[in-house]
Amino acid sequence: MDSQTQMKQIVADAAIKEVKSNMILGLGSGSTAALMIKSLADEIRTGELKNIKGVATSFQSEVLALQLEIPLIDLASVSQIDLAIDGADEVDPGFQLIKGGGACHVREKLVASKANKLLIVVDETKLVRNLNHTFPLPVEVLPNAWKQVQDVISEMNGNSTLRMATKKAGPIVTDQGNLILDVLFDGGIKNPKDIEITINNIPGVLENGLFVDLTDKVLVGKIENDIPVVYSPSKVD
Ligand code: 5RP
Repeated sequence: MDSQTQMKQIVADAAIKEVKSNMILGLGSGSTAALMIKSLADEIRTGELKNIKGVATSFQSEVLALQLEIPLIDLASVSQIDLAIDGADEVDPGFQLIKGGGACHVREKLVASKANKLLIVVDETKLVRNLNHTFPLPVEVLPNAWKQVQDVISEMNGNSTLRMATKKAGPIVTDQGNLILDVLFDGGIKNPKDIEITINNIPGVLENGLFVDLTDKVLVGKIENDIPVVYSPSKVD
């Protein structure tokens, strides 16, 4: 196992310790969340956790949960989620996030918004001082609006590219049937709250990957003296 996977595995296992029987649980997306879902399935199989219901944030997490026989419940049929556990692409010191590296941020944000608690699990490469200096902000757009949205973002000093698929010609298509623009702003994102709202106000945008004031706790995996360890940083306001 490479060192980044070791960091992801230890943080995924640590996250499951926060889960209690009878919870409705938001199941995040991405490689770290997938490890967390596998650890969850192990705990359910051994009887350590009982009566868990998962709410999937993507086809990826839905398929994985089905394969691992984790009971699922539809987002529309729950009024609240006890705990959502998800990965992130960037985490700043105030726990503001960029998500959507797997193009799942629409449902991830719906689940996070309905959760009493959002626990973010990352390896330490995801911690940044300022958002969007290296990782582009994913913006989900309606298919026939991508060029129009790109032009508006360009007027905001945002340099965007249409995300291309691998093993399929042309752009990637999201779980909702839309496209993704990946945006780097000149100088990064200094005010995530404003940018989140401004981008979502552009006609043709469904949702962007800024998660502002949603995160309650972050677990970080790192390698110390060749051993993977977990810590939980304090939020800096
Ligand atoms: C998917 C996400 C993921 O949580 C994010 O991309 C992190 O993924 P990984 O754990 O594979 O690094 O937001 O839309």
